This record gives sequence, structure tokens and C-alpha cells, in this order.
Amino acid sequence: MSDLSFVRQKYLNYFSSLDHSVVPSTSLVPDNDPTTLFTSAGMQSMIPYFFGLKHPEGKRIANVQKCFRAEDIEAVGDNRHTTFFEMLGNWSFGDYFKKEQITFIFNFLIKELALDPQNLYVSCFAGNKQLGIKRDDEAALLWQQLFASVGIKATIVEDPSLGMQAGRIFFYGEQKNWWSRSGVPANMPNGELGGPDSEIFYDFGEQNNDLTNKIHQQARPCHINCECGRFLEIGNSVFMQYQKTGTGFVPLSQANIDFGGGLERILMAYQKQPDIFKTAAFWPLIEKIQSLTNYSYKDATKQKYFRIIADHMKAAVMLLADGVVPSSKEQGYVLRRLLRRALRQAAYLNIKQETLVELVPVIVLLYEDCYPKLREQEQTISQLLQNEQLKFSKSLSNGLKEFEKISLQHNQLTAALAFKLYESFGFPLELSLEEAQAKALPVEENIKALYLKYQIAHSVSSKSVAKNKFKSGLADEGEITTKYHSMTHLLHAALRQVLGESVAQKGSNITAERLRFDFSYPKALTAIEKEQITNLVNQWIEADLPIVKETMSKKEALNSGAIALFIDKYPSTVNVYSIGKNPTGNKKGTDFISRELCSGPHVERTGMIGQMVIVKEKAVADGIRRIYALQKTS
Ligand code: ALA
Repeated sequence: MSDLSFVRQKYLNYFSSLDHSVVPSTSLVPDNDPTTLFTSAGMQSMIPYFFGLKHPEGKRIANVQKCFRAEDIEAVGDNRHTTFFEMLGNWSFGDYFKKEQITFIFNFLIKELALDPQNLYVSCFAGNKQLGIKRDDEAALLWQQLFASVGIKATIVEDPSLGMQAGRIFFYGEQKNWWSRSGVPANMPNGELGGPDSEIFYDFGEQNNDLTNKIHQQARPCHINCECGRFLEIGNSVFMQYQKTGTGFVPLSQANIDFGGGLERILMAYQKQPDIFKTAAFWPLIEKIQSLTNYSYKDATKQKYFRIIADHMKAAVMLLADGVVPSSKEQGYVLRRLLRRALRQAAYLNIKQETLVELVPVIVLLYEDCYPKLREQEQTISQLLQNEQLKFSKSLSNGLKEFEKISLQHNQLTAALAFKLYESFGFPLELSLEEAQAKALPVEENIKALYLKYQIAHSVSSKSVAKNKFKSGLADEGEITTKYHSMTHLLHAALRQVLGESVAQKGSNITAERLRFDFSYPKALTAIEKEQITNLVNQWIEADLPIVKETMSKKEALNSGAIALFIDKYPSTVNVYSIGKNPTGNKKGTDFISRELCSGPHVERTGMIGQMVIVKEKAVADGIRRIYALQKTS
């Protein structure tokens, strides 16, 4: 067993022994979450349970969650940034709180993984008078007791900007020790939940304290959050306790725990290895890349290329496995960027582009024990990768030649030139920007915004990314999206009634403006079919039918006629939502008109939803249709 699998399994076993139910990782592409393109934290699928909804598996949950952070693409290349990572998570939904959490996680690190407590440091929330939230002395004292129990006198430091001061427990403000999906309290929309947190850092020793590092110089003197490379955050316990409202923060009806720890980072501590690419999570990939080139990873001038290829190829395989395909929009565009960037780096190492696909089996081998589907998908993933690489490699060398010309003929890279490179050679803007940087060619001011205008004008825009994806769920937006979510179930049921039971959901995406629903069906819908579907949904809305949730075993759910999207992705106990006159009854059509496995949330009655209008119906792939529908607001 690799050390990667070992640490992952240790964590799950440990929390399982502490009465946690272990649930599977959800997809890298979140279902029905309009606020984000990718899953970037384990808690994203847990939101309703922090508010008091009962999780079908109980109040103590643990898992390992696949995560992807697109915002880190450009940071990859140093010894610790990656885009794909696995987050070890444990949650308490109104069950245990601070004392238990801090004790559990400390014991996991020092007893289960045998990390030396001398190398552990922690941070706690310094409090904020304006928000009416006190300094977290409770957490600091708990940490102090735990350290004392292993013979370490842990000094509390109030002002870390003055440096280490021989301290072990440090208070920081909301920039560092407050967690919500949208960051600091001021950035949180009303309705959003968050809380103070306490982070754990691992000390890799002063030899890793890169004094030339810019961040270090700004933050000098060094302290645990300095990011100079000496200290690495390996875990974060969030005390998920507050909701933001128009009049300030109010306590949630229950105090929750949301812990997230980067598996690869904990592995770094476990292996005492300050370079993430030398840990078991990456080393087999680096070795494989070495076998494809004459360069060595030891060559410091080339390390960055090895790291980018390893990270991007792993992330690309994981995204492909979760159904993302390269395209010019949203998740597909990010995947395309990763692959093209990896190919560009391969060229720096004189690696033949078509050989990069040889990394796929290495990645599958590394992860199949945790994600067994990868093995089944290996062929398809390799094929998709090869298609995309073929498309790009043809133009990469021509594009680079063109870029060379541009750099000689122009004194800056303009949005117009960058867009031409995209159109003619498939160069994503970010790649052109990197080439410009490498050649020290200045770039036009506001190039990103100007480029977007060209994209929109040529209708290959990823505009919806900018417009819809980054605003988080405001309270009233939350209500609207819940209505759309229930409407989606009605639409699904109507499609099956009108077009036949072979219609299956292929995807769903909801924003506060509309619902989008993908389903399998071989041809375009006729006007009459669209009308029948619309009328059916609107009759059900008119009838004000109850929507009821039941919790049952996966088997019972399937026997009761519930529809499931990815059956093996669900835990053994599931939530089932039924809609109908007698929603929990047995007779399909009479008792219930819709029954689906779903984590919710939904409105209580269909009458709360506005009437539906289908605004567009089109093909998105062979045999897959897409519907956009709106609620009439009047
Ligand atoms: N949700 C917390 C994080 O992602 C644990 O850091």
C-alpha cells in the first residue's frame, strides 16, 4: 500500500472508530450548485446539514473529498501548490464541538500518524469586536492543555507580526482564522454561514525557510502563517456556528464542526518531505516523466516543468473521470487550459507530446483503490486526452512560431493578438500571457477584460463563468434556486412521461436566473412535445402537491421506484424526495409523480414554484439534449 493510501485509510478508520459514518467523495463538478465551477472543499455538499437538516447517515460524518482549485493553476511549480488535491474531512452536525474536535485531530496526528508534536504549531481566532465575536481563548487553552499532555509548554502569542517569540499558539484576525465559502466576513453575502477556525501547521525546519522569498520578506519576521516554505498548514477546524444576516451575525440553531485537511500535505508531514512532488502522491508521476525525457527532476532549472506536467495531468485525468470534456466554456475550458499548459511544458523538456498519455495508467494505479471507477474509465480517458492533445499539438509549434513573430514585430501583446492566437492556434489567453512573460514582452493594459470582449463578440465566450459562477448564494437567491431545484424534478418527470422512460438526466445546473437540464434523447423536441411538457409541469405546480423527503436504504429507495443518477456514488442510506398527492404511497402516477434520490433542498409544496417556461431546447452532444427553463415571476 502506498503511503498516500495509508494516510487516507488511517484517517477514515480513525474517524470511523469515533462513530463517524464514512461517506463517498462527491464529484469534482458540484451538482446543482450555481456558486462555483468546481468542488474545492469537502463542506460544499454538507451545507444543508449545518442549518439543521438531518444527514441520512447521522450527526458524525467523515470522508475524503476530491477537490480542484482553478485559482491555483498559475501557482503550480513551487514545492507545495497543486490544483487537484484530496481533502480529509470530518463533520459534526450539532453533535461534538471544539473540545472533542481539537482533541480528535491532535491525537490523529501524533498518535495515529506518529508526527512529532514538537513540529506542530496552531493558530486561533483573535476575535472581532465589531462582529461581536470574542477571541477564541477556549480553543487556545484547549491546545495548551493538549501540548502540555505531551510535555510541551505551549506559549500563546497575541501579535504574530512580531515573529515567533518562542510561541506555539498564535492569534490571528479574520484574514487567517475565519472561514466561509466566500472568505472574510465582509465578503459574505447575507444568508451565508461561517465561523472562526483553528489551523494546524507543520514545521519543516529552518532549512526550508526561504529567505529570498518575496512573501517572506514582506512578512518578516517569520511566523507560522508566513508562507516562506518553513511552515505548512495541514489542517483546519472550522467552528461553523454563525450565519450572516442584514443586521450582523446570528448563531446557527446548532454549533457545527467542519474540518478539512489536505491529504497530500499531511502526507508531506508524515513523510517529512517538504516537496509535495517527492511524496507518494506524485513521485510515481515524476519518475514516469523522467523516463520520457533526458532531463532529471534534480535539475533545479527544469523542476518547474516536471511539477506542472505532473499536477496538470493528474487534475485533467480526475476531471475527465468526473465527466468534464475539453471545450471552450466553463469546466471544459479549465480542463483545456490544463492540458495545453501541460503540453507546453512537455515541449520544454523535449517530451514527445503523444507520450504524455502514458501518465494515465500511473495515475489510475495510484488512485484506483479509492476511486475504483478510474480503472473502467481508463480507455475513455486516454482517448479523450489523445484527441485533445492531437488537436493542440498540431498547432502548438505553429503557434509558438507565430508568437515569436509577434514578439519581434510588436512592442506589446494586445488582446486582439492574443485572441487571434486563440482562434488560429488554440492558444488560451493564459498561455499567451505566459509566453509574453517568458519573452519579457509587455502586455496591453486590461488585456483580460478586452479579451473577454472579443470572446463575447465571437460568441465563444465563457461569459456565464464571469456572470453567474462567482456570486454566491444570497439568501433570496437561495430561495429561488431551491424553487428551481424542485422545478427540475418536475421537468424530469414530465420529460419521462411525454418522451418515454428511456430519458435519463445527464446533468443539471441552476442559477438564480434559470434552470438548465441535460438529458438523453436522440432528437430535437417538437413544438407539441414542448407544450405537453410545459403544461404537465404547470399543472403539477397549480395542483400545489406536497414534496416529501424520506430517508431509507439505497436498496429500498430503488425498490420504491426512485430514480438515481449515479447509483454507486450514493452512500448506503439515502434521501428520497417524492412529489404527488400521496407522496409516500406506492403507486407511481397516482400517489406520486416524481421520486428521486437527492440531497435536496426542496420547497415544501409545488405551489411555491412559479409557472415554468421553456426558453430554449438544443443538442449539446450526440444523443444529449439541453433545456433552459425559467419561472414566471408574476
Ligand atoms: N472548509 C474548511 C476548508 O476548506 C475546512 O479549509
